[in-house]
Amino acid sequence: MNKQATPPQSFYPPSRRLMGPGPTDISPRVLAAMSRPTLGHLDPDFIDMTEDLKQMLQQAFKTENSYTIPLSSPASAAMEAAIINILEPGEKIIVCRNGVFGMRMSDIIERAGGEVVAVDDEWGKTIDLQKVEDAIKQHPDAIALAFVYAETSTGVRSDAAALAKMARTADMLSIVDCVTALGGIDLRVDEWGLDLVYSGSQKCLAAPPGLAPMTINERALKKIASRSTKVQSWFLDFNLLGGYFQGSDANKGGSKKRAYHHTAPINSLYALHESLVVLLEEGLDASFKRHQLMHLALEAGLSAMGIELTVDKEWRLPQLNSVGLPDSVDDAAVRSHLLKEHSLEIGAGLGASAGKIWRIGLMGYGARQENVFHCLTALEDALANQGFVLTAGKALPAARKVLTNK
Ligand SMILES: Cc1ncc(COP(=O)(O)O)c(C=O)c1O
Repeated sequence: MNKQATPPQSFYPPSRRLMGPGPTDISPRVLAAMSRPTLGHLDPDFIDMTEDLKQMLQQAFKTENSYTIPLSSPASAAMEAAIINILEPGEKIIVCRNGVFGMRMSDIIERAGGEVVAVDDEWGKTIDLQKVEDAIKQHPDAIALAFVYAETSTGVRSDAAALAKMARTADMLSIVDCVTALGGIDLRVDEWGLDLVYSGSQKCLAAPPGLAPMTINERALKKIASRSTKVQSWFLDFNLLGGYFQGSDANKGGSKKRAYHHTAPINSLYALHESLVVLLEEGLDASFKRHQLMHLALEAGLSAMGIELTVDKEWRLPQLNSVGLPDSVDDAAVRSHLLKEHSLEIGAGLGASAGKIWRIGLMGYGARQENVFHCLTALEDALANQGFVLTAGKALPAARKVLTNK
């Protein structure tokens, strides 16, 4: 006899605290926005909502670019889109590689038939401006400079304003990964002259994963318009996407007459919209300050436990803290203890830093006192469970001191 199949079961995820490299915790307010009734993707009310959303993205990016859209994809596809829309086979792009995501950019360029000029820096260090300057001098025919402003794999910021300026001076476009930056640290697309910029919904915007805000300026659109070959991807072709998100005169200021391109993830867009309302209600500067304050509180608490951050102070990202593992501590055992006993997720190190660092995220809704305290308490317990001798009970007062003396 056939074994009776178990009836299908609904899925109820456990309630976790997400303090890794993203996705981050989503506030009940943003989650609730997702459960509002679905509209058709060409419904006038839905289109009005996306117009609002685009305006809020312009504010968050600090840009007046009319081509500012939420791409229906994870940020990796936005990275790919930025590259393949400006690159034609055989063209060169200079890529700064100081972590996983710079490497991903160069892989995409190669796959698209482009030539990579790599500027490599040690993982965990910021991008060396002199090396970039040298590469630009040696390769004046490169069409673009690509770099990651906030490297999530290492917790390192780079000097986006200086890098974009170098690209512009050499008449190259800049492709700038702002996935972890947007909403968490200062970002000025127009003032810094960033040309193709993309982000992700799941980091400091604290919206559900799977959407990629992007903004593209006139310089970049001009290069796209001058292509002699079609963009190899139908889905990621900015001309076609523009017809949907901006209307048929997409690249000339936008209109509401939209052409069907794909069925947008309606409910996720409600959530992204709400997350931007939350961000702008708080104010960008206030959000940056909150991320910085929580980062300093976490740092103080960890330091009181004898654990230090690994990135040079000047280049640390407040929203992604790379933490050195104490000697002889079992990385996987600690993270598993945190998850099982405290329902807390933190990130492991990647590549060369695997087993050497943890990555603790303080992003968006996750950058709050409650999370800092929870993380310190849970980590203290997990380390004690490993037999790691520490000065118990000192972490929280140290963090609290930072928060009360702000
Ligand atoms: C800096 C950076 N770029 C790109 C990505 C890729 O984003 P996604 O996982 O949404 O494709 C990530 C994801 O963590 C990231 O941190």
